[in-house]
Amino acid sequence: MTELPKPSDLPRHVAIIMDGNGRWARKRLLPREAGHVAGVGAVRDTVRAASDIGLENLTLFAFSSENWKRPKTEVGALMGLFRAYFKSDMDELVARGVRVRIIGHRGRVATDIGGMIEDAERRTLDNKGLNLTFAFDYGAQEEIANAARELARAARDGRLDPETITPELFATRLFTSALPEPDLIIRTSGEHRLSNFLLWQSAYAELLFLDTLWPDFGREALMDALECFAQRERRFGALNSEAVA
Ligand code: FPP
Repeated sequence: MTELPKPSDLPRHVAIIMDGNGRWARKRLLPREAGHVAGVGAVRDTVRAASDIGLENLTLFAFSSENWKRPKTEVGALMGLFRAYFKSDMDELVARGVRVRIIGHRGRVATDIGGMIEDAERRTLDNKGLNLTFAFDYGAQEEIANAARELARAARDGRLDPETITPELFATRLFTSALPEPDLIIRTSGEHRLSNFLLWQSAYAELLFLDTLWPDFGREALMDALECFAQRERRFGALNSEAVA
């Protein structure tokens, strides 16, 4: 069993692109939806582990703005799983002191899911444990365009001097304004891309691409990922101490 790195070596914010549900199902000659069902199990296990470890922030890419292009039956199955997850897991999340947030478009999801999202955010608003964020109907380019539009409107209306726009100010207009930037972004299933996930926020994130398919991810894989992160040397564009000496 992997040991937990010392607190100063832990990332403050881990974000995960949960990929490979379909391939997991295909390998077992099961329908894709069965992979998503198994994927919910991996979400549950990972969230419990993150909460037990005392991780500050976990962000999970649950549904991208491009996922609407999948067959209607698969989109329907995924929406059904979100509904079921919020119904079945909210009490546990509340008991664990988890604060739930959803980042994404919001306007395009079914009214009842919108209501569940608002309810989950309201119920956990004052919680001080793990910050659990689901990126749901989320696309980073759309998020960045929204932020630019908001600042442009403010400038047009004379409420903002364009010369005062800095990366820090820009970041306050992103969905993630309340969260620190991710230190570690994990993608499962062997694909090596970010797929429109946290493009602004990932500027200095460590990237970890794993061959594990998402339904096989969980507590142990998270611990391994944290151990791997602890070995990385982060320089944020500067030099390491040896190079300076
Ligand atoms: C990618 O696998 C995964 C998704 C598109 C959605 C992620 C959804 C879950 C983990 C389950 C539901 C989550 C919650 C929070 C209730 P893929 O279908 O692209 O896999 P493939 O690339 O192997 O086809």
